[in-house]
Amino acid sequence: MIDLRSDTLTRPTDAMREAMARAEVGDDVYGEDPTVAALEERVAAMFGHEAALFTPTGSMANVLAVASLVAPGEEVLCESSAHIARAELGAHGAITGLTMRTWTGPRGQVDLTAIDAMHAPDMGPFFVRTAAVSVENTHNFAGGAVLPVDDLRALRAWADDTGTRVHLDGARIWNGHVATGTPFADYGRIADVLAVCLSKGLGAPVGSLMVGSADAIAEARVRRKRMGGGMRQVGVLAAAGAYALDHHVERLADDHAHARLLGEAVGVDPAGVDTNIVVVERPDAAAFVAGAAEEGVRIAAVGPRTVRLVTHLDVTRGDAERAAVVLSRLAAR
Ligand SMILES: Cc1ncc(COP(=O)(O)O)c(C=O)c1O
Repeated sequence: MIDLRSDTLTRPTDAMREAMARAEVGDDVYGEDPTVAALEERVAAMFGHEAALFTPTGSMANVLAVASLVAPGEEVLCESSAHIARAELGAHGAITGLTMRTWTGPRGQVDLTAIDAMHAPDMGPFFVRTAAVSVENTHNFAGGAVLPVDDLRALRAWADDTGTRVHLDGARIWNGHVATGTPFADYGRIADVLAVCLSKGLGAPVGSLMVGSADAIAEARVRRKRMGGGMRQVGVLAAAGAYALDHHVERLADDHAHARLLGEAVGVDPAGVDTNIVVVERPDAAAFVAGAAEEGVRIAAVGPRTVRLVTHLDVTRGDAERAAVVLSRLAAR
């Protein structure tokens, strides 16, 4: 089976497992795991922020990050297909007590006109106050779309003018960096707080980080424990993340090339394939998925008429070529 359902399906490589086995560890709730501390310092520095916090999942990193900007009863604005709005099972409302309003951007893009029109300053007891805007780069449900850094800079300038804060869901920021060459620090500059994942394209089995100011991270450390996310000798997992940062960032270019190959095979406009995700509109999504599975290619239906293909570390060039043959035959039926 060639598995193109998600880039979370990767298994740790032998070399990554060796790095995990060798990791120096301690009790991280006591702040005594040197491998976790080193990873947190490294990732904070990459994005030009003061501190970072290791979390088990991207969802927890997002919840902690957004909660550092938005108080209960305030709102965050985001794009309507953002992961925080669609796929975190209401955690931001259920746990933080915030509300969300959304704009719909083609391919998940920032729409500053819509954001400005929705923005509500503090009006006392009349309207929900807009505390933050959240953007997702690359944008998962928009097919791995890159948000141009100039749009993010314009958002930052608008946020500074209006006293609004900015959250960046950078679960796949690595793909954005490799696709565009934008330095991580430039992404860091546009956001007050970020969430980044090591367990997507980078191939670590577990692990994300919230990145932000020392104060925000200190507060999030307490909230993480309250949520049951205080972890002990977790350097074994941080070591996988550090290994992934050393060895699996630049190779994302291969995943992007494989995605372009698959996109061509199923007739998707190459302009719609920025990184490692291909979204295919099919009237018969379920049948297309079943037909591919019969021929050894697992893909996912993400809507009644939408299919998603995702390339990753465990998909070789040969796998991508074989999958392209199968999928182009099916697409031509
Ligand atoms: C853009 C984005 N943000 C956050 C997450 C959440 O990550 P996790 O599954 O580790 O909670 C995902 C997961 O796929 C994602 O695609």
